Amino acid sequence: MSQQQIQQIKSVIAQLQQGDLPLDSAFDACMPMDVRRHTSTHFTPVEVAVEAAKFLCGGQHTKPKILDVGSGMGKFCLVGGAMFEQAHFTGVEQRKSLCGVADQLLDNSGLNNVGFLCGNIMNVRFADFQGFYLYNPFYEHLQPFSAMDESIDLDADYYEIYCGFVRKQLQALPKGSRVVTYFGGGEEIPLNYDLVNQAFNNDLKCWQKR
Ligand SMILES: C[S@@+](CC[C@H](N)C(=O)[O-])C[C@H]1O[C@@H](n2cnc3c(N)ncnc32)[C@H](O)[C@@H]1O
Repeated sequence: MSQQQIQQIKSVIAQLQQGDLPLDSAFDACMPMDVRRHTSTHFTPVEVAVEAAKFLCGGQHTKPKILDVGSGMGKFCLVGGAMFEQAHFTGVEQRKSLCGVADQLLDNSGLNNVGFLCGNIMNVRFADFQGFYLYNPFYEHLQPFSAMDESIDLDADYYEIYCGFVRKQLQALPKGSRVVTYFGGGEEIPLNYDLVNQAFNNDLKCWQKR
């Protein structure tokens, strides 16, 4: 990262910690050019991330652990971590290049309540978390033209496998567990979750286990 980008991520985090909302373009300025081009289609807008994190941190746990399923360059976790210092945010991401960007941003953010795992969601134990964020992570398997790049195998079968895995994990969690989905048809959400709130033209959906 350049000195300018390091200053930029520090400034974005400081704004969030003061309760201000940085522009998405301010976040973009922290990223390499080849990652920046995906912002509008693949990374959560700041104001959406704030609402999602508010719901996920507003449950019965005083120190909730939140998982971003497919965390990209880490935007949701960094926003959440800056705003909710009592919570812990973990992002899991399969694209190594994005994991590298997320780690660099985190290293320069000063946050100690965020972590990133580089790997596949199938290797994560959902029982270790109380809140989950999903920005339509498996859609690219249904619509390969929407994919960020060709670094992973795209196959419609993976969509069913990943959604089924997430659904099964969520189904087994304790009552009160919370999930936020942004876009997508809710295929990952088991029937024992209630839809308790919607926002941003109903693209953001808040779910809670009965
Ligand atoms: C739409 S982006 C959302 C990024 C981030 N959550 C955000 O809101 O800014 C979805 C991400 O999920 C990742 N992803 C998709 N399937 C995955 C899997 N099986 N395991 C880990 N990451 C995955 C993709 O590589 C992509 O970066």
